[in-house]
Amino acid sequence: MHSKIISTLIAILFFCLNTAAQTIIPAPQLQIIYPEKSKSSNLANLSCIYAEYVSLQDEAAVFNEFLVKMNYPALEIKSASHDMIKLVLKNTKNEDEYSIQTKENNIIEITGSKSGVFYGLMSMLQLIHQSKSNGTSMSLNIIDGPAYKWRGMHLDVSRHFFPKEFVKKYIDILALHKMNTFHWHLTDDQGWRIEIKKYPLLTQLGSKRKETMVAKNFEPYIGDGKPVEGFYTQEDIKEIVKYATQRHINIVPEIEMPGHALAALTAYPQFSCKKLPLDVLTKWGVSDDVLCTNDSSVRFVEDILDEVLELFPSKYIHIGGDEVPKVRWKECPVCQKIIKDNKLKDEHGLQSYFIKKIDAYVTAKGRSIIGWDEILEGGLAPNAAVMSWRGEEGGIAAAKQKHNVVMTPGAYCYFDHYQGNKNTEPLSIGGFTDLEKVYSYEPTPASLSANEKKYIMGAQANVWTEYIPTTEHVEYMALPRMCALAEVLWTGAKK
Ligand code: ACM
Ligand code: ZN
Repeated sequence: MHSKIISTLIAILFFCLNTAAQTIIPAPQLQIIYPEKSKSSNLANLSCIYAEYVSLQDEAAVFNEFLVKMNYPALEIKSASHDMIKLVLKNTKNEDEYSIQTKENNIIEITGSKSGVFYGLMSMLQLIHQSKSNGTSMSLNIIDGPAYKWRGMHLDVSRHFFPKEFVKKYIDILALHKMNTFHWHLTDDQGWRIEIKKYPLLTQLGSKRKETMVAKNFEPYIGDGKPVEGFYTQEDIKEIVKYATQRHINIVPEIEMPGHALAALTAYPQFSCKKLPLDVLTKWGVSDDVLCTNDSSVRFVEDILDEVLELFPSKYIHIGGDEVPKVRWKECPVCQKIIKDNKLKDEHGLQSYFIKKIDAYVTAKGRSIIGWDEILEGGLAPNAAVMSWRGEEGGIAAAKQKHNVVMTPGAYCYFDHYQGNKNTEPLSIGGFTDLEKVYSYEPTPASLSANEKKYIMGAQANVWTEYIPTTEHVEYMALPRMCALAEVLWTGAKK
């Protein structure tokens, strides 16, 4: 009897160990994975994938691309009587929901909408990888869906440029973690990275800087003497947008205005207040030279946005709006006349005037702007969503005004911060945001009413690259913190 209890306990222990050994990140809402003795439930034996509906064939094909990148053979795309993944299309309340169930003969059925099935396949990649590594057979019963609809990661390609192939890899990493938004920070004071046909100098001049400041040698300034350049052609961008779409990732392009625009103004100084020659910034920080707020500068930005809207199907277009020094506007007779003529209160009102024009333009084209929380200053444009980065206050204020919000407060979501001991980590911009801090984040502020909470679309982490010069370094800063953020946004606080 005694030995029977012990053997039962051992069996339970093995069950728990085995169950615990199978991990999906982000953790599913409901996951019952139990080990099977029979070899007939071994995910490592899967040989076919079959999409019952033609519309799911894209998901099957992308799944195979992932398998091959993981050095596993692609599955045959056909129906079989055993060892098969079967994709079943089903309308669900939340389009990202899915379920996975093991049926007879090691047939794994994944059910959901197109995006749901895709997320089911992303879970399968992790399980197959584990199955191939440890050889265990398992039965699956997973019912899953996300806590938030905006699950974002940002990448700054202005401060340092990263090639198209890496952008695709970054998108793969996002997809594997069921993130669905890639915020692509394409322009800033230190480099313009998107081809705009109407204004070729943006890339001919604006994508180049003479050199880069060494470490934090602001005063006295020390440069490295090495020219930096790079941009994405419109063909590159089309290719990347298609790649992301196949992975159920929406790309939100960011074109910074009216500040963080020195690279653009280096190419076209006529759109600045002083109209004097300028140079792409070689040190970190914010340029005092910003776009003038006159009609021709607004037209310049609208022309750029015309091409951006053609390239990116995203509902939201990020227009920056952060950290706009007001010194040039204060001295510019044209800007001062606009303040007077439009009875604006001050330069904050002028910033709001500028953003409202862009808001109206983008809204008329059937899209919406999103901007950093400074766009609240001087009055929020009617259709704008707010990305709250200076803490959560901007997001809270916007939600109270019934505007959509993405939370990205520095203390939790800035992945350019240190994640460990300063003395042993690579040089970073500062701050301290470790894995635990990211895990502790709850994007919906408790201070909002139930109705206001509905405006919190989700959150994202930002990877600013002033001190992140290589692709390996980007990965080092993004991971594993992105895994934690994925659990915050997909798995949610309830779990
Ligand atoms: C920002 O970090 N300046 C949005
Ligand atoms: Zn001006």
